[in-house]
Amino acid sequence: MAEETPWQQALRYANRANPYPFYEELRKTPVAPQPDGNYVVSTYQEVVQLLHDTRVTSDGRKRGVPFSNPFEGTVITTDPPEHDVDRRRMMRHFGPPECPHMIAGFEPEIRRIFGELLDNLTGKTRIDLVDEFAFPGPVTVICKVLGVPLEAIPSFHGWIETALDGLDFGPEANDPEQQRRAAAVPDAVTALRQYLGDLIGQYRKQPGPGMLSGMANDDGPEGPLSQESLVNNAMLMLFAGHETTVNLIAHSVMSLLRHPDQLEKLRRRPELIVPGIEEFLRFESSVQLWPTRSALEDVEIAGTTIPKGAPIFLCYGSANRDSERFENPDKLDLERPDNQHVGYSQGIHYCFGAPLARLEVQIAVGEFVRRVENPRLVEDPPPYRRNQIFRGPRHVWVDIDGIRE
Ligand code: HEM
Repeated sequence: MAEETPWQQALRYANRANPYPFYEELRKTPVAPQPDGNYVVSTYQEVVQLLHDTRVTSDGRKRGVPFSNPFEGTVITTDPPEHDVDRRRMMRHFGPPECPHMIAGFEPEIRRIFGELLDNLTGKTRIDLVDEFAFPGPVTVICKVLGVPLEAIPSFHGWIETALDGLDFGPEANDPEQQRRAAAVPDAVTALRQYLGDLIGQYRKQPGPGMLSGMANDDGPEGPLSQESLVNNAMLMLFAGHETTVNLIAHSVMSLLRHPDQLEKLRRRPELIVPGIEEFLRFESSVQLWPTRSALEDVEIAGTTIPKGAPIFLCYGSANRDSERFENPDKLDLERPDNQHVGYSQGIHYCFGAPLARLEVQIAVGEFVRRVENPRLVEDPPPYRRNQIFRGPRHVWVDIDGIRE
């Protein structure tokens, strides 16, 4: 059997908790062709270069190798001009210039949601950081932002878990167990699409709160989003809008508990949470890799030619640990200068929800540090979820002495 490449090793489930030594090996070949025909880009400079290269598409319909992607037909998998028009149609309901106060207006609600979650931990000595804090906060926030009823959380959470568990780009993709997980994905995606399609249909008849109703009933300067595009992008926002944030909150707290000097510094200087969350995202990127890009023509980069049609994997998690760009990249430093990480990507697909995610994580982690007394990790590393893109722990048990007011 051929020896596995560093990339294949990084993708193995056993290495989910710590893929970084494999990334370090991978970066010795900044653009690394893989046995399956994919080109993996792992160094900061090359990732940034390709993010701004118009010879690189995000549109799966234009790539040589077929790729079934639950995000098909959304802004994340289209190129200009289609991408830009739809992104503007969505942004009208989310941020400046049309809705400059939308995110800031959610701050009191976000504080209340995370505050209540911490209140509920009163009297406990052991908590699950994921199930009791990092998950329920962002999922509630994104439901409120979009106008998805909270009662739907258990159903859509199940569908999203199934879809995430079924996607595998590594050497275990062909294992019978993984094939079974993959077979369950289409039904889960169909159920989610059906649910959101029905909800949007109801909002067309009877407008209600949130972005989905706003978008369904809007006829802005560029016309409305088509029903299909609206449903696809609603799926993307519901999904991207909490999975990433859940993992960032869990990893931020874990990183602090693993670096007591930084935790102490943050306790003394709570304002460091603002640069701090950029460092948490650089250190443990919620989107480790992004698999949808491909070359529209031969692209020569770092001594390698990516042939026309070849799939390109951008490894943000590795670029953010590149020692050519970040001094002491494996050190957590809340005061790191010039921290231009690629945790939210760059260029035209730069994360749409970054301002909301920043606000949520600042409040969640800031309040956790302020209110939770003497938190200690019980199991390190904790068990991880299977998915390689949205990398995060499944549970994080933390012992605590109490909850302050
Ligand atoms: C810590 C939290 C988050 C992280 C790390 C994150 C990360 C990312 C990344 C890396 C991309 C670009 C993918 C690419 O390379 O093409 C992206 C795009 C996107 N994100 Fe986020 N995201 C977060 C939170 C959110 C939230 C809260 C929302 C919803 C409100 C959201 C909605 C989107 C959308 C709609 C796109 C597609 C933008 C486009 O293609 O123009 N994200 N995100």
